[in-house]
Parts: sequence; structure tokens; C-alpha cells
Amino acid sequence: MIEFVTSSRLFNLHTNHTTYQFLIDPNGFLLHTYYGRRCSGESFGHLLRQADRGFSPNPREVDRDRTFSLDTQPQEFPSVGVGDFRAPVLEVENADGSCAADLRYVSHTIRPGKYGLDGLPAFYGDEKEADTLEVVLRDPWTGLEATLYYGVFPQLDLITRAVSFRNGGDQPVALTRAMSACLELGRMELDLITFDGSHTGERHPCRQRVRPGLQQISSIRGITSHQHNNFVVLCQPDAGEKHGLCYGMALVYSGNFEANVEQDQFENVRLTMGISPWHFRFLLAPGETFTAPEVAMTYSHYGLEAMSQTFHRAIRHNLCRGWWKTRRRPVLLNTWEAAYFDFDQQKLLEIASSAAETGVELLVLDDGWFGERNDDYEGLGDWFVNPKKLPDGLTFLAEQVNALGMDFGIWIEPEMVSEKSRLYQEHPDWALQIPGRPSTRGRSQLVLDFSREEVWRGVYAQIKKVLESANIAYVKWDMNRSLTDVWSAALPPERQGELYHRYVLGVYAMLEQMISDFPKLLVEGCCGGGGRFDCGMLYYTPQIWASDNTDAMDRLLLQYGTSFCYPTSAVGSHVSAVPNEQTGRSTPLHTRAIVAMSGTFGYELDPRGLSQPERKQMRAQIEDFKRYYHLLQEGDYARLTDPFRNREFTAWQHTARDRSEALVSVVTTMARSNAPFCTVYPRGLDPDALYQVEGGGSFRGDTLMYGGIPLPQGGGDYQSWQFHLKKI
Ligand code: GLA
Repeated sequence: MIEFVTSSRLFNLHTNHTTYQFLIDPNGFLLHTYYGRRCSGESFGHLLRQADRGFSPNPREVDRDRTFSLDTQPQEFPSVGVGDFRAPVLEVENADGSCAADLRYVSHTIRPGKYGLDGLPAFYGDEKEADTLEVVLRDPWTGLEATLYYGVFPQLDLITRAVSFRNGGDQPVALTRAMSACLELGRMELDLITFDGSHTGERHPCRQRVRPGLQQISSIRGITSHQHNNFVVLCQPDAGEKHGLCYGMALVYSGNFEANVEQDQFENVRLTMGISPWHFRFLLAPGETFTAPEVAMTYSHYGLEAMSQTFHRAIRHNLCRGWWKTRRRPVLLNTWEAAYFDFDQQKLLEIASSAAETGVELLVLDDGWFGERNDDYEGLGDWFVNPKKLPDGLTFLAEQVNALGMDFGIWIEPEMVSEKSRLYQEHPDWALQIPGRPSTRGRSQLVLDFSREEVWRGVYAQIKKVLESANIAYVKWDMNRSLTDVWSAALPPERQGELYHRYVLGVYAMLEQMISDFPKLLVEGCCGGGGRFDCGMLYYTPQIWASDNTDAMDRLLLQYGTSFCYPTSAVGSHVSAVPNEQTGRSTPLHTRAIVAMSGTFGYELDPRGLSQPERKQMRAQIEDFKRYYHLLQEGDYARLTDPFRNREFTAWQHTARDRSEALVSVVTTMARSNAPFCTVYPRGLDPDALYQVEGGGSFRGDTLMYGGIPLPQGGGDYQSWQFHLKKI
């Protein structure tokens, strides 16, 4: 619910459990007053205290009063160059070379339903689910306008924000920083949690105390990156899974980004998030607009678990779209680790029939089926079947796979081109390259200039033909390098700073075209695994391959980190062969399956090599996954242990919303001799109800939660169990 209190010029954005408040001060500055637990809506304006602070300038209007300064007031969307020296959200280059933008309130509108953003991903909601507030600000001296968008989802306790800028003046203005949101949290002792890592080790939580000055994470790789995820948490230093206040903010975007946390001179904390200003310069001619991507944020008074569950629900129900949004996704077998580039029709058919016998529902032909793609040095850009490998084409292959009772899917990497390809010979200027400078290769390939419509449409025309040529139910959309040599043959020098963003818009445009042409196609995102694992991609691809690392023990860590924002239904996760390709570690098949079930679930191995008992086990795992699907994909997720701290075992839980059923998954991570007894403590059960523990007696909810479930002892490293609890 959104209310505007005319007498105090105050906005209250209420969700069921939170209130977000800001006001318009007498000079038209938007001052932020509160974000936290749900309140009546009475003004928090009395907390806006003023004092004469040295070196903090004062706007003209306040005349001889030196106590008001933008440098010390909590601002909703800070102006720049006129008195605020803290982390900016906006930087401009005006026609006269000045860098000031003084944004003052002009008007606002409130309406039912959630706003959308043209060409950009965004959470969505109808009139019953969400409301929109739009506040227009304007710099009276240049005419630059900013429209702040707020989407309020009461039941979800989620608030989204975005900004669009319009040059309402008669001179050009360049935006050199246009971030999406500023959140002022006042004087609070806080921890910052970021999700960091590397290729094959993504999204490991890193928690540190907010300290004076700036703490920042960012990506300038053109993608969200494996190194830092565009989701951050600020929480009380003693906040845990079930207690303490915390704020989460996610950027709904898939390109360069920056998140800044600043503790200022008076110990107030500001969080800003949006597109990275690195090589960002968006030129607005009079009348032109630029829209910064959305952020989604939530506040929880009851710890990190509630915060995560808010994001999980919102992503599942108000971000993911289309045919597959609520449908059970098929259990797939991907050929990558089974065959890499070394396959032909015969081998694929053998893998297919072997997979079908175990209950696999979708066979995915990964890299190598097209052009002259026999290794990763060539072929990208030539999206037509390689007849040497597949003499009867994809049509035949799909038919054969379908005849075995499975769906068929393929891998593509549309944004890339190999220099050894027909596409590159025909269109060398389609690649991002700086004239007169040798271009950098990444995985021996170049990046196509997706900022140009003719480029992505040219690639899409080829891919569309492929998708129409055979019964293709699934596509894995990959992207395997960071962007370099970012220069477009289609942009004038003064607009090259728009390229990173225009590239992302091109990717979104092609994805939108593809899912609207093929509405039943399941598209899985991928970027060398988890390099573009973000809310932006989830608007188009309801699941994303979480990492190129399929080792079950490493997956425990990165799936734990991923779960802080992203739901199980989004996490591409497969069982692969042992010893693991990335780590050389061997873990039991049972354990690999339990870990992969905390994701979309599938296999990434050659089923022909499995023994009869292993195949039997695989069949049973697929049955279990189907049996537990409603819990795994729709249930509330709880992290029962922190794998970075608990050396003995990692445990997590999926619980039905009505608490009638739960699945507790436990993996031991280190065997010890003469070890103490271990106990796992489920959460969120009905304390008064009786639960049947599958294969292990019945207990009351309170007994299970407060006494715990004893873990079996021994059995060696990496043992695992699933405890299925059902109310009786
Ligand atoms: C990337 C993906 C892998 C696989 C290969 C194919 O690394 O993350 O899963 O598809 O490309 O080249």
C-alpha cells in the first residue's frame, strides 16, 4: 500500500511487515526517513536533525541557516555537485562542462499494479499484488528530469525501484553515472555480506563490518561476473538466520554493476547500487531518455532466512515468467562432461537410449553440434548443423530422442564468434574490436556487438531456423568470456560509453524475441556456469547453470551462497561422474544426487559407463526428485548449517508452506575417528503436530525441532541423508 500524506508531504510505502518512508522538504529535496519494521505511517521527520557542520555547504534557499546541508541529510536520490560529498548515484556532464544536477520534487502519481520497464527485466505484479509510485524530480537549471519508480508488493514484503532520466532542457547532457537506488540507513552498526568468488567457485558469502569510508563490489567485465554477484546484504552484526534485522538488495541486471556501502563522517550508512560508471557515458539530446535498471529490496526483522525466503518467492512468482514458471522442469542429461566435443550421431543415440532407461526426461546436446566446431577454437557464429557429426541432422536426432520418450535440447552461445567461422568472414565488423588495435581473445573467441540490432537479429535468424527445424524443447544459452575491446562500429565516439549497456539491452531483446517466438521453450542461462547468475537473466531464463564446478563438496559452498537470494528452482545443478573433472574428488553417487536436488536436477555424465547398481540408483534418484519436487522447488528454504563454519556436515531444509511436510538434506563433509554424535535441527515445523519420519518412526514437531534428528555415525567421507517428514 502506498500513501501520500499531504499535510506532511510524506510518502509511506507499506508492505505487510515493512514500512519505507520519505518526505519532500520545504525546498523540494526528497529526504529519506525510515525503512524497517511496519509502522503506522506517522512521520519520522523529527529524526531529521540538523547542525552547523564545518565544510558542509548550504543551499541558497536556507540563507543564513548553516544547519541544513545535503552533505548531512539522508537523501532519497542524491543530487550531485551541489553539496553532497558521499557516494553519488548520479554524475552528469552538462553542456557548459559543469557537473551539477540539483534534483527537486515536481510531482508524483500513485497507481495500482506494478510499473514495467521497456526493454529491461523487472518484477511484475497486477493490481492485487502491487502498487506503483512515480516521483518526478527536476533540475530547474538544466531541465534534467529523474522519474523515481517504486513498486510495492505488500504480501511479498518486497519493494522495487528504478529511475529514468529525461533531458527536459534544450542542451545536451551526458550521464556519466546513473545508478538505480540509494538507500540511507542512518547511524547503525552493520555488517555487509557480499557473494564473491571466481570461475568454478562462485558466490561464497563474505561478511565484514561496515567501516568508515567506502566498501565496494563491482564488475566491469560486461557481465555480472563470477567474481561478485549483484546482490548484497546489510545486517546487524549479530544477525543470524533467525534473528536480527537485515536488508537485502538485488540488481535486476546482467551487465557491469557497482554496489557501494559508505559510512560517512557521522557514522550514517548509505548503500547505492546500479550500473558501474566505468566507461559509462550516456548522452541525452534534448527530449531523450535513459532508464536505469531495477533493484529489488527487502527488510527482515527476523534474520537472513526470512530475507532469503522473500527473494525466493518473489523471483519464483513475480520475476520468472512463461510456460515453465510453475511447471515441473524435466530431469535432463547434458552431454558436456559425457563427451565434450568428441561425439557423432551414433554415440549420441547410444547415450540417449542409455539415459532413457534410467528415467531421464530431456537429452541436452551441449557444445559442438554446429559449424566446424571440433574444439573451442572455431565454429561459433555458424549456427547450422555439422553434417560430419550429425549426417541426418537435428530433426532426425530429435525424433530418435523423442521416440525414446525424452525431450531434446541444444546448447548455443549466440553472443560469440570464432574468427574461424563463416559468420566472421562475412561480417568481421560485427565483433567488438577497436580499429587499429589487435583484439583480445577470451577462450579464443570474440564478442559480437549485440548493441546493434542487425547483429543479434542476424544471429537469431540462424538460431530460429534451427529451432524450427527440429522438435527442440530446451536451449542452454551460454556466454563464455568477459568483454574487452568494447568499441562499436555503429556508434559515434561520443556514444561509445553507451555500448556496455546497449550490449545488455541487445541480449535481452534477443532473449525476449526467442521466448515470444517459442513460448514453450525452456531456456537455461549459463555464463561459463555462474558468471551471469542474476535477477536480470531470471526474467528470461527461469533457471541458470550455477557453476562449471560440479563437485558435490564445492557445490555445497556455492549453492549455500547462492541461496541467500536465489531460489532452488533457479539453480542449475547436475550429478557428474567421479573422480570429479574439476577437483579430482570422488563422492558417493547418493551424495551427488542430494546436492544436485537442491537445484533443477539433472546429470552430466555418460550413462553408458554406469554399472547396473548405479543405474538402478539413478532411476531411484529421479523418482525421489519427482516425489519431492513440490518441496524442493516451491517449499520454503532454510540453511540449517553454515558449510564455511561447520566442518562436520552441511544441512538444509525445504518445507511446505503449510508445514505439512519437509525434506531435510544432510551431507557429511569430514569423517572423524571416534567422532562425537551429530544432530541436525529442523526448523519451521508445526510444534504440536505429529510427523512421520520416512523409514524412522514418528515424532512431534517440537521434539524434532528442539531435540533434533540424530545423524548416523561412520560410513566414511561425504555420506548423506534425506529425512522426509510428513504430518500425520
Ligand atoms: C561453458 C559452460 C559449460 C559447457 C561449455 C561448452 O563452459 O558453462 O557447461 O556448456 O561452455 O563449451
